[in-house]
This record gives sequence, structure tokens and C-alpha cells, in this order.
Amino acid sequence: MTNGLPPPSGPVTGADRLPGDPSPRAMIERMIRVDHAGEFGAVRIYEGQLAVLDHSPRAAVIRHMAGQERRHLAEFERLLVERRVRPTALTPLWHVAGFALGAATALMGERAAMACTVAVEEVIDEHYAGQRDRLGADEAALRETIDRFRLEELEHRDTGLAHEAERTPGYELLTGAIKAGCRLAIWLSSRI
Ligand SMILES: [Fe+2]
Ligand SMILES: [Fe+2]
Repeated sequence: MTNGLPPPSGPVTGADRLPGDPSPRAMIERMIRVDHAGEFGAVRIYEGQLAVLDHSPRAAVIRHMAGQERRHLAEFERLLVERRVRPTALTPLWHVAGFALGAATALMGERAAMACTVAVEEVIDEHYAGQRDRLGADEAALRETIDRFRLEELEHRDTGLAHEAERTPGYELLTGAIKAGCRLAIWLSSRI
């Protein structure tokens, strides 16, 4: 990129790509598109939880996480504009599905809401880790953003665990289903 900075040291994004793999530009577009969708979905999940649990003892904890997700979303909104990436066409779906997931788990109880957070954040952690490993020194700023957000996602997961997520009845089944849904959402949002 011609941004006035010295040339990158270390591997360049996409240097190890194989014939038939998307170009580095297409790869970065997909990353920003799917990350924007994910952060949007995260905001909606917490909004759904707060619609149900607004007066519960854990509302402050959920509000704190929601605030961090809003900052993540704002950064990816900025990157969409800066890098001229169109958002996923599925945004209206994530608007509804994210809220529904948050509200439904909150209706099952505070522990189930926390289990939802643990499931989502575990998938996001894997997802961000995979992305950061594909970014080269020429994309150091994006890599740093992803690393920073990833640490906050891990904090959210730990908050969920600290608030007894694992004591939710049917924890494995619930988190397994949510993780499968998140992986599908990631797959779809990077393509559509
Ligand atoms: Fe986030
Ligand atoms: Fe998060």
C-alpha cells in the first residue's frame, strides 16, 4: 500500500497464497466485511439480552460488554468506509437473529445469557486468531486492531465463565448449537 510508511519488513499479506486463492485485496475485503457483521451481531445479542435483563444484577456487566462491542463495531464501520468495502447483504438478518439469540438466552435465565456469551466469544476468538495469522506486516494496523479486539472478546468469555455460564442446564448442547450458528453466520457473511 502506498501510505507513505516505510516498506513492511516481514511477510506480506497473501504472500503464501496458492493458485485459486483470493487476491490479498479480496481477502482483506472479506475480513472487514465479516468482522463488521460479527461486531454488529454482537451488539444486537447484547441489546437482546438487555431488553430482558435490564434490571437484573448482571445488567451492568452486560452493559459494559455491549459498550465494548459498540466500539468494535464503530471501528469496523470506519474501516468499511476507509477501505471501500460493502457490508454484507445479510445485515438485516443479523439485526433480527442477533437480538433474538440474545433475548432468547436471557429468557432462559442469566446463566444461559452468559453461556451464550461464552459460546459466541469462543468462536470469535478462533476466527480472529485465524485472521491475524493471515495478515502480513503490510497490514500491521489491521492486525493490531484484531489483536486488541480479540483480547476483549476473551475478557467477555471469561466474564461469562465467572458468572456461572457452565452451570446452565444443557450447557454443552446450548453452546454447541450457538457455536454452530455463529460459524454458519461467519461463513455466510464473508461470502454474501
Ligand atoms: Fe467484539
Ligand atoms: Fe465480544
